[in-house]
Amino acid sequence: MQAIAKNKKILLRVDLNLPIKNGKVKDLSRLIAIGPTLHNLLENGCKVTICSHLGRPDPDNFDQNLSLKHICQVIEQMYKIECEFSEIDATDLDQKIESLNPKKVLLLENLRKYKGEKKDDPAFSKELASHFDEFVFDAFAVAHRKNASTHEIFNHLKSNKGILIEREIKNLKPLLKGEFENPLTVILGGKKIETKIGVILNFITKAKFILIGGAMANTFLKAQGFEIGKSVYEESKINTAKGILKIASEHEAQLILPSDVVTTKDLKDPKIIEVKSVSEVKSNDYIIDIGPSTINDFQQAINESKTIIGNGPVGFYELPASLQGSKSIYKTLSEHNGKTILGGGDTIDCIRLSGISLKKFNFISTGGGAMLKYLAKDHMPALDKLNI
Ligand code: 3PG
Repeated sequence: MQAIAKNKKILLRVDLNLPIKNGKVKDLSRLIAIGPTLHNLLENGCKVTICSHLGRPDPDNFDQNLSLKHICQVIEQMYKIECEFSEIDATDLDQKIESLNPKKVLLLENLRKYKGEKKDDPAFSKELASHFDEFVFDAFAVAHRKNASTHEIFNHLKSNKGILIEREIKNLKPLLKGEFENPLTVILGGKKIETKIGVILNFITKAKFILIGGAMANTFLKAQGFEIGKSVYEESKINTAKGILKIASEHEAQLILPSDVVTTKDLKDPKIIEVKSVSEVKSNDYIIDIGPSTINDFQQAINESKTIIGNGPVGFYELPASLQGSKSIYKTLSEHNGKTILGGGDTIDCIRLSGISLKKFNFISTGGGAMLKYLAKDHMPALDKLNI
């Protein structure tokens, strides 16, 4: 494989925004995904300093649980290398970088601990860049953010893309260029409509089916005049949902919403659940999952398709009582002969909770919001800088 860089002091921007619960990393996919680039750089004699964000900390009141310090050990175990930790503004940063070798990397503190990161601050970027020879960007999952390490830094260092970026683009770009096998189904779940509008509009002319589940389906149901009780939805997006439904009615793609749902009266402890048609939901119900008829409709659409894109679980998957919808859909996808392309942290989490191997899918993007932005043809500051 071609060297990304040789014998250089490299600043490697990756996405180590890993899901952590009770101090434990729940999913290592994003750490595994940086392996090819990391190996390439180390094998080519580079001194590698890794940087990333973790969570959304307040720089004025930094939450120590979001320190990347804790991730050093995880890197050491996974890559069998030494990992030293450093604050970005440490006075001995240059010495630490000099001490690196193919068996030792440096991990910088959470970029978002510093105000300059979110502000895309040129002074912060310039100071950070001053310690390195070259910059390698391999953080697809945050390529849609205009931060110092995803945008301004490119103005201060010779830059290159990593192998993860190449892999993401290789798998996602054909979907934009229409280079996929038809019919196409797009499955969207999760809470927010806003982040998915672009994808819906982009694929409304290309897909045969657009399947909507999760809390965002509640907003669509409400927009259609259905009672959704106390279910999570976005009041401010009712008109957006109406607009999408109108556009969908004028196009070929069938936008399929739940026809039946799983409900509970107690969201915190849903011991009693009921399956209801969407017209039977009462004012004291919470919708927590898609029902069996909807699962069937979604499975039929999937089985009629040759390419399936998915982002976001179709139910409140964290509760065992409402995992069934997503689990059934991911099981169908895992047994599908066509091309299955999924993305999003919740999607990965939900597939794991469903007991399904991630290897059963053709491609799982490391990006959630980033994948959606890419598929909506939105500008991605880091990709623009890399001329991708
Ligand atoms: C993600 O988890 O989607 C990325 O790490 C981006 O995180 P952000 O939404 O906090 O910018």
